[in-house]
Order: sequence, then structure tokens, then C-alpha cells
Amino acid sequence: MSLALLLERTLELVAERIGDPAPRVFERLFLEAPDLLALFSNDASGSVRGEMFLRALECLQDAAGAGRFATGLVAAEHLSHQVYGVSTVQFERFFEIIVAVFRDALGLDWTPDIDAAWQVAK
Ligand code: HEM
Repeated sequence: MSLALLLERTLELVAERIGDPAPRVFERLFLEAPDLLALFSNDASGSVRGEMFLRALECLQDAAGAGRFATGLVAAEHLSHQVYGVSTVQFERFFEIIVAVFRDALGLDWTPDIDAAWQVAK
């Protein structure tokens, strides 16, 4: 199975098991770094967080597949996020947290193939 298909399969399984993974991603992010919560004080509806999660996921998928935009978009967002006060370590950690939430959701179904595909994406 191609890397892109392995990622797709992961997303299907994640949705079956836990529905929308985004709330768990942000729960874990704020548990690790409670100070980041303040950055989202204007995001009562959660739309910014939702958009951010989807863009980050698209970057992971693109990086493991066609490679059309992830490098440029991540570089641009990295810069704009420095202005928001997000450090490089925190920015990169967001991608890792997404993968960690997926891994936990799949449990024993997180196979070495799936793991390898997400390592490439990261
Ligand atoms: C810990 C890591 C991160 C934090 C704390 C963070 C924080 C934020 C904040 C506070 C905003 C709202 C900015 C504003 O409009 O005032 C935002 C927006 C956004 N972030 Fe992040 N970010 C992180 C990682 C990432 C990553 C890895 C990506 C990857 C692409 C990303 C993509 C975006 C995008 C596309 C938006 C615009 C969403 C919108 O306003 O519609 N962020 N981020």
C-alpha cells in the first residue's frame, strides 16, 4: 500500500474509533503547554483550531505523497506563528501530537507499516 493510502486508511480507522480527533489533539497540546491556551482566546467557536488542525493534517498527507505544497506552507506558517509567539519546538510538536493521538486511537491496529508512513509524513 502506498504511503498516501496508509495515511488515508489511518484516518478512516481514527474516525471509526474516536470520530473527530481534533479535540483530543488540542486537549493534549494544552495539557503539555497550558500557556498556549491564551493564544486562542479569540477562538470561542473553535473555527481557528479546526482550520489549523485540517491544514496541518493536509501538510502531513502532502509531505508523504505528492509533495506539492507542504514545504512552502509549513515554512510560511512557521514564520507567521513565530509572530504569534509559538516557538519552533512547539510548532513542530503539533505535528507529533496529531500522530500520537492517531496512534492511541488505533491501539494494537497501529501497525509498523502505518507507523513508518506517519514517520515519513512528519
Ligand atoms: C503548538 C503549535 C501551534 C500553535 C500554538 C498555533 C497557534 C495558532 C494561533 C493562535 C492561530 C490564530 C492566529 C490568529 O489568527 O490570530 C493559528 C492559526 C493557524 N495555524 Fe497554528 N499553531 C500551531 C501550529 C500550527 C501548525 C503546525 C500549522 C501547520 C500548518 C498551523 C497552521 C495554522 C493555520 C493555517 C492557521 C490559520 C487558521 C485561520 O485563522 O483560519 N499551526 N495557529
